[in-house]
Amino acid sequence: MSSCAAENDLISGAEKPLAALKRQQPLTRETRTVLLRQIDKLRCGLQGPVDAMHFQGTVLDGTIGLEDLASKMGWEPAVLVRFINVVLIHGIFEEPEPRVYKHSASSTAFREDAIRAYYRLGSWSVPSWWKVSDYLKTHAPEDVYDPLKSPFSYSRGGEGQTYYQLLEADPAFSTVWHKGMAQAALLNPVLGMFPFRDMRSAVEAEPGRAFVVDVGGGRGNALVDVMRECGGGGFGAPMVLQDLEEVLLGEEPVRIDGVQVMPHDFYNEQPIKK
Ligand SMILES: C[S@@+](CC[C@H](N)C(=O)[O-])C[C@H]1O[C@@H](n2cnc3c(N)ncnc32)[C@H](O)[C@@H]1O
Repeated sequence: MSSCAAENDLISGAEKPLAALKRQQPLTRETRTVLLRQIDKLRCGLQGPVDAMHFQGTVLDGTIGLEDLASKMGWEPAVLVRFINVVLIHGIFEEPEPRVYKHSASSTAFREDAIRAYYRLGSWSVPSWWKVSDYLKTHAPEDVYDPLKSPFSYSRGGEGQTYYQLLEADPAFSTVWHKGMAQAALLNPVLGMFPFRDMRSAVEAEPGRAFVVDVGGGRGNALVDVMRECGGGGFGAPMVLQDLEEVLLGEEPVRIDGVQVMPHDFYNEQPIKK
């Protein structure tokens, strides 16, 4: 389909529910169902590969038949096909002929490490939600505000430790988490929110004063972006990365050229005064 045809499809896809909404008031349950289906179709047409990050990809080149795929995964074909049918309608994988699959732009996105990590970050957080009801039945309301008794700590069997202590204690989880943060930073760029580059003359006038202190800055993704925007550094002034000791100096200590790594718990007084 040419991109012009695709755009026309999107326009008519957007117009249909609008026309139905104007025509049919009050809405019946049936009309709502039809409208939701139309809007879903429109969303699938609009989404790019990164928007469709709700599926963990299987690496394959060319096409693969259902039976081959099922045997690689160790699943029953009759069961696998049900899952594939669900994701196919969201544009994840293509089915060029019945029971034969190939990657689509959306499923290909999941071959990237950072995107896989972002997806896993979401799916690993879901089990905590299943325990929320039990948590609320067994805890006083004020416990919600205690980081050592958070619903997350409870759901992981780790009360007495904060979310971030539990995270860093599990290397598989923390790797996925930090990679997922890098992906989140791409989707919500820090640049453009503040005119870092325009600060040049003010920063150069006081080179002993920290230019940026990133508090709870993780592994420094945002600082790296800021430094790139500023020509590769902090205009000669300190760029400081603060986070918990276990994050900065743990399994994989953070080292970034031009960045001063400073373990600091943000509940304590900020040591950088200027
Ligand atoms: C949402 S993340 C921010 C990640 C970072 N902006 C990035 O791009 O990777 C929140 C960060 O706050 C840190 N954090 C949590 N509690 C903290 C505390 N008490 N003191 C300092 N940092 C803390 C976490 O370790 C985590 O890296």
